[in-house]
Amino acid sequence: MCGIVGYIGNREAYPVIIKGLKRLEYRGYDSAGVVLYDGTGLKLAKTKGKVSDLEEKAAKEISTGGSIGIGHTRWATHGVPNDVNSHPHFSNSGNIAIVHNGIIENYEPLKKELKKRGYTFQSDTDTEVLANLIEDVKKKDNLKIGKAVQVALNQVVGAYAIAVFDKEKPDEIVCARLGSPLAIGVGKDEFFVASDASPFIEYTSNAIYLEDEEMAIISLGKPMKIRKIKDDSLVDPYIQELQINLEQIEKGGYDHFMLKEIYEQPNVITDTYRGRLHANEGLIKMAGIEDNLQKFLNAPRILIIACGTSWHAGLVAEYIFEEFARIPVEVEYASEFRYRNPIINENDVVIAISQSGETADTLAAIKLAKEHGAFVFGVCNVVGSSISRETHAGAYTHAGPEIGVASTKAFTTQITVLTLIALRLAQAKGTLSNSMFHRYLQELELIPEKVSEALETNDVAKAIADIYKDAPNCLYLGRGYNFPVALEGALKLKEISYIHAEGYPAAEMKHGPIALIDEQMPVVIIAPRQEHYDKIVSNIQEIKSRSGKIIAIVTRGDVQVKELADHVIEIPETTDALSPLITTIPLQLLSYHIAVMRGCNVDQPRNLAKSVTVE
Ligand code: M6R
Repeated sequence: MCGIVGYIGNREAYPVIIKGLKRLEYRGYDSAGVVLYDGTGLKLAKTKGKVSDLEEKAAKEISTGGSIGIGHTRWATHGVPNDVNSHPHFSNSGNIAIVHNGIIENYEPLKKELKKRGYTFQSDTDTEVLANLIEDVKKKDNLKIGKAVQVALNQVVGAYAIAVFDKEKPDEIVCARLGSPLAIGVGKDEFFVASDASPFIEYTSNAIYLEDEEMAIISLGKPMKIRKIKDDSLVDPYIQELQINLEQIEKGGYDHFMLKEIYEQPNVITDTYRGRLHANEGLIKMAGIEDNLQKFLNAPRILIIACGTSWHAGLVAEYIFEEFARIPVEVEYASEFRYRNPIINENDVVIAISQSGETADTLAAIKLAKEHGAFVFGVCNVVGSSISRETHAGAYTHAGPEIGVASTKAFTTQITVLTLIALRLAQAKGTLSNSMFHRYLQELELIPEKVSEALETNDVAKAIADIYKDAPNCLYLGRGYNFPVALEGALKLKEISYIHAEGYPAAEMKHGPIALIDEQMPVVIIAPRQEHYDKIVSNIQEIKSRSGKIIAIVTRGDVQVKELADHVIEIPETTDALSPLITTIPLQLLSYHIAVMRGCNVDQPRNLAKSVTVE
């Protein structure tokens, strides 16, 4: 978590850094800070709160001139969010300033050692320890700042993306990464450093993504040098042309990124299957799958690892893979998998799902699976992300940047990719009849249109939100393919509205949760007309007879559930397996409106960050 931005060039650094930090606030937003160099000295402003609070403070406290600087927006790991713990941090001499995203795991012994050597500390952070460690090695061995950073990083255990500025070498910024992302924007006579490319997309479309254990010294008028931190070997900079544009990372007239991203789903689902789904020819073409088809077909099982919403997409995939391709699937939280000594066989195929491609637990689980010889396939959204590079092969979801902390379009595009894979495997294995295979292909092609129709439920969702916005609790129930959607609906509500919500398989109700039902309890039931329809009608009756308030997601034209439910949201019909792509839409809208009505910060919910790059 945390976002970092640095600038060196001929522009005013401050506005570039502030605008960039605002774009990175999805990574953390409990405190923010900036250090600028204007040719005379270092100007520091930092504060608990958002980047807008930093702007206010900086306007009062510092002159914001200068064309070099580094900034930070924080998601606290070590030390509570307050002014002192905010970044940038300085070394004791006040010469070295640093911004950091990640965790220095061995900061305590390092701090102890530095204290013995006379260093003092203002903050509770691991980052201040690194600032002083750099200063210490620099002084001890009379090193230049670049070398000092390298030597210090070789003593550090943990994860980092850092940008370091030394007043004694005021024409350069040193940056490095291990486990946390870092991109360098290469402009004409200017450089940018940032946690992702969004802070510099309007200035340059040339970017270098540092690999793990690489560092770069960027300075004006000199060629950039990238080195391996461990062995000092030089690396040829690989400059990529960025595919994202400014429009994609702005709100485009919507009040919130989350709403924009909900409404983008018809388009991005189309983008996800474009060039892959050929319904008329009865073909699915995915290079990552074709190149590794035998591995999938020979696999005794598929293991899916992910976190949060991506884990929910994995659960939907479990149902789809087993139904279509008859391959056993296990879905695991990456955070559990990595620490529980799992059985991983060489022939297993592991699918890692991640929107950001930076989730620390998923990354660690991938490394573990690889150590055991498994083939790992990534389903990521962010192109060039750590997970996309760490996996043996993969398929991008092509959802475009997802800025809202609550995942929406990531979920539906992940399901789209996973469905395509399952269908391709089913075709290769002959586990689906030809007619069913063709039917699914055609139905998948219609999904964007049906998602658009599902978005028309917005007003109904808003009216229901108004009735239940003050509920302290909420239950979400679904069966079969829509059980994971119930989990996802509950996660959406709790993370952005702070209402306690639980998702359950509808039939599990009577094994405990039914005790919670009374006239105060809203129960959202996903009840499209499909395989378990009669069963879910019975579940609704059980809730009704205990006076629970029922909000049902039903297929357009439904009669039976309509009679029982207090509210219905009608969605277009589709096949059972593809229904999560539709049923999830009104749940996203419902959560969104409840959160807005409760005055919550929808795009930046408390305590959360978009990419969880710490474990
Ligand atoms: O980037 P990832 O898909 O790996 O992120 C996983 C979770 O952190 C993420 O889905 C999280 O649960 C979202 N806030 C859910 O909306």
